[in-house]
Formats: sequence, C-alpha cells, structure tokens
Amino acid sequence: MSENLLEIRRASKVYQRGLLTSKATIALKEFSLVLKQDEPTILTIAGESGSGKTTLAMMLLGFTTATTGEVLYKGKNIAGLVGKERMAYRREVQAVFQDPFAVFNPFYKVDHLLTVPIRQFKLARTKAEATSKMEEALNSVGLRPEDVLGRFPHQLSGGQRQRINVARALLLKPRLLIADEPVSMVDASLRANILESLRNLHRDHGVSIIYITHDLTTAYHVADNIIVLYKGEVVEKGDVESVIRNPQHRYTQLLVDSIPWPNLDQRWGHSIRTSETTNPR
Ligand SMILES: Nc1ncnc2c1ncn2[C@@H]1O[C@H](COP(=O)(O)OP(=O)(O)OP(=O)(O)O)[C@@H](O)[C@H]1O
Ligand SMILES: [Mg+2]
Repeated sequence: MSENLLEIRRASKVYQRGLLTSKATIALKEFSLVLKQDEPTILTIAGESGSGKTTLAMMLLGFTTATTGEVLYKGKNIAGLVGKERMAYRREVQAVFQDPFAVFNPFYKVDHLLTVPIRQFKLARTKAEATSKMEEALNSVGLRPEDVLGRFPHQLSGGQRQRINVARALLLKPRLLIADEPVSMVDASLRANILESLRNLHRDHGVSIIYITHDLTTAYHVADNIIVLYKGEVVEKGDVESVIRNPQHRYTQLLVDSIPWPNLDQRWGHSIRTSETTNPR
C-alpha cells in the first residue's frame, strides 16, 4: 500500500464574526482528502468567491489551524512537526499565490527571493552552484536570467514576477505545490505560459499540485481531478473530464455553463482533441 503524502481528515474551519456576537462563518466543513506519495497529481479546488478555497490553502500551509479535524503530512499532524521533519515539510510544501507582487520586498532585487531559500535550505555548496540553480529554475519557467536578475520587483511585469514565484517554488523541489489563483492577476497571454510551467513541474519532477481557482477553463486545461466547493462544502468531485462534461450538481452545472466554450479544444499535456466548437454538454 502506498504512503500518503497528504491527508486531510474531516477538517473544518469556523471563524467567529466578532467578540460580542455568537455568529460564526463556517469557511470549510468536514473536508477530507488523500494524496498518495507515489501518485503525483494535479487537483483543482474550484468554487466561487468565499467558498473556502484560500481557507483550505492556509490550513495546508500551516498558516491557520483547523477548528476540528486534522492535516497530516507524510502521516504526521503538521501542527506537531518539529526539527528536521518541520524543515522538510516547509521545504517540500510550497505555495504560489494570486498576487505576484505580495511576496516581493520592494527594496530587494529579485535575486533575493531566490538566494534566500537556497541559503536557508542549504541547496548549494558554492556561489557558482547557487547561480546555476537559479538560472536553471528561471529557464524552466521561460525566463532568461539576464532579463530578470539584478532588477527590482517594480522593474518587472506581473507575469515575470509570477514566473519568478513559480521558479522559486521549483528551486526547492517541492513534493506539493499549492497554487491559489496563480494566474488570475496576469493577462491571458501569460496565463497559458504560467500554467504550462506548473504542468512541467508536475510532469518533470513528479510534484503534486493543488490548483485553486474559480475558473473552470484553466482547471480543465491543467488538472487531473477536481473538487467543487460551495459555501465550504464539497458538492462534487471526480476526474476533471467527467465532472466538467457531465456535472451532476446544480452548482457545478452553473459554473460549467459560464465557461466560454471553444477554449475546451485542448488540454495541455493531454492529447489534443479534434476541434470542437460547440459546448459538449
Ligand atoms: N480571517 C478571517 N476571518 C473571518 N472570516 C474569514 C477569514 N478568512 C476568510 N473568512 C471567511 O471565510 C469564508 C471563506 O473564505 P475564503 O477566503 O476561504 O474563500 P475563497 O474561496 O478563497 O474566496 P475567493 O475566491 O474570493 O478568494 C468567507 O465567508 C470569508 O469571508
Ligand atoms: Mg481565495
């Protein structure tokens, strides 16, 4: 039997609305999930604004704790990880967020974002090795090192910044990447490029990816499986092809019906279909 990389057991998150009221928001309700170590996958978590997607991401990254239930990484509750195991978890579980500017300190050149993890996790023994790792990571997301290194964040485009974030995640050779709306703030022409970098990361390095989005078109393009959240609850899950082509739940149907169709002609990394111009449903 294969070991679990990640296991979420009936995790719920309840936010109190204020100190003086008993009202609470159930951001996530009894969410369970298993990702296997030897079966890397791309899983989409889809749902409208406020459905609990970022809450889930924050729980997986250990930035917020579950009100009830638990999150296990390689069989151990992440809340109890210490020492080497905690370091391993922090290196192996990486994140890319929506706003490509948020993680940059405006006073440091972008090199900083790449050299810090190299130093922190001792990924290189010499300066030359560090440079070559940085260049390799940048190349693999389609950036030329000479175009971006030595610059300040405001001297780069949003798409370049977001690709540097992906390169940073890649540098650490994570086992799991949590990408929370990674392309919703970049324009359409770069979207494909960034999503393709994510797919390559999965294909070439066996990284599992949790791809969070409200956009089913990109979900269809990159993911193997999908979980649809509605008000913190799972309303539908399965392989992305079946769920999007034949949604069972009313809410999923609404999401699918809002997709502009010719975009579904192709799934990157999957065989390209003969051209379809009509909504297959
Ligand atoms: N720190 C917080 N304190 C109180 N309520 C919160 C907090 N964070 C999120 N919520 C609430 O929890 C619910 C889920 O929010 P969450 O950010 O997980 O949604 P989301 O699916 O990521 O939405 P979006 O697509 O807009 O990013 C919302 O009702 C939100 O208002
Ligand atoms: Mg969110």
